[in-house]
Amino acid sequence: MSKKIVIISTSLRNNSNSDILADEFLKGAENAGHIVEKINLKDKNIAFCKGCLACQINKKCIIKDDADEIFEKVKEADVVVWATPVYYYSMSGQMKTLIDRLNPLFVSPYNFKDVYLIATAADSNESAIDKTIQGLLGWIECLSKTRLKNVLKATGLTNPAEAKNSVKYLKEAYTMGQNV
Ligand SMILES: Cc1cc2nc3c(=O)[nH]c(=O)nc-3n(C[C@H](O)[C@H](O)[C@H](O)COP(=O)(O)O)c2cc1C
Repeated sequence: MSKKIVIISTSLRNNSNSDILADEFLKGAENAGHIVEKINLKDKNIAFCKGCLACQINKKCIIKDDADEIFEKVKEADVVVWATPVYYYSMSGQMKTLIDRLNPLFVSPYNFKDVYLIATAADSNESAIDKTIQGLLGWIECLSKTRLKNVLKATGLTNPAEAKNSVKYLKEAYTMGQNV
C-alpha cells in the first residue's frame, strides 16, 4: 500500500551528509511506490517555541511562520522521517526547535505511527548517535501512537558531501526507504 511520507531534513549546510542520505531514502521510498515530500529547513523560517501552551487549547501555534505548514504536513503523513547532523552528541538545534513547535500535535489527531531517524556524525563510533535517539524518543513517548521504526547511524562523516562516497550508507538509506 502506498504511504504518504514526510522527510524533514534539518541540516543547514550545503552538501549536507544527512541531506544526501535523506535523498537516498526518498529515492528508495518513491521506487517502492510511496508518495514522498522532503522538507528542508534551510529554506524555512522557524522561531523558538515561547512555551505559552496556547496550542493546547487552540490546536494551533500563535506564532505565524513556516512551522505551521510543516505541522499540517506532519499531521497528514503516514510516516515521518527526521534527518539530522549530530551536534554535541545530540540532535541539531533546528530539529529540536521544530519538534517543540510541533507541540499542537500533542492535542491533535495525526496519522503517522512509524518514525525514522537518519543521523550523521563525525565520530566513527555508533554510540555517537545514542543521545540523538534518546532525544527523539522523548518526542515519540509523548505521541502515544508512534514508534521509532528504524535508525540510520551514519558515523565517521565530517566534511560536506562525504556521504556520497559511502556506498554502505547510501545503500542503507535507499533500502530503509524502500522497506517503509
Ligand atoms: C556545531 C557542531 C557540533 C558538532 N558536534 C558533533 C558531535 O558532538 N559529535 C560528532 O561526532 N560530530 C559532531 N559534529 C560533526 C557533524 O555531526 C558532522 O560533520 C556531520 O556529518 C554533519 O552532518 P550534515 O553534513 O548533514 O550537516 C558537529 C558539527 C557541528 C557544526
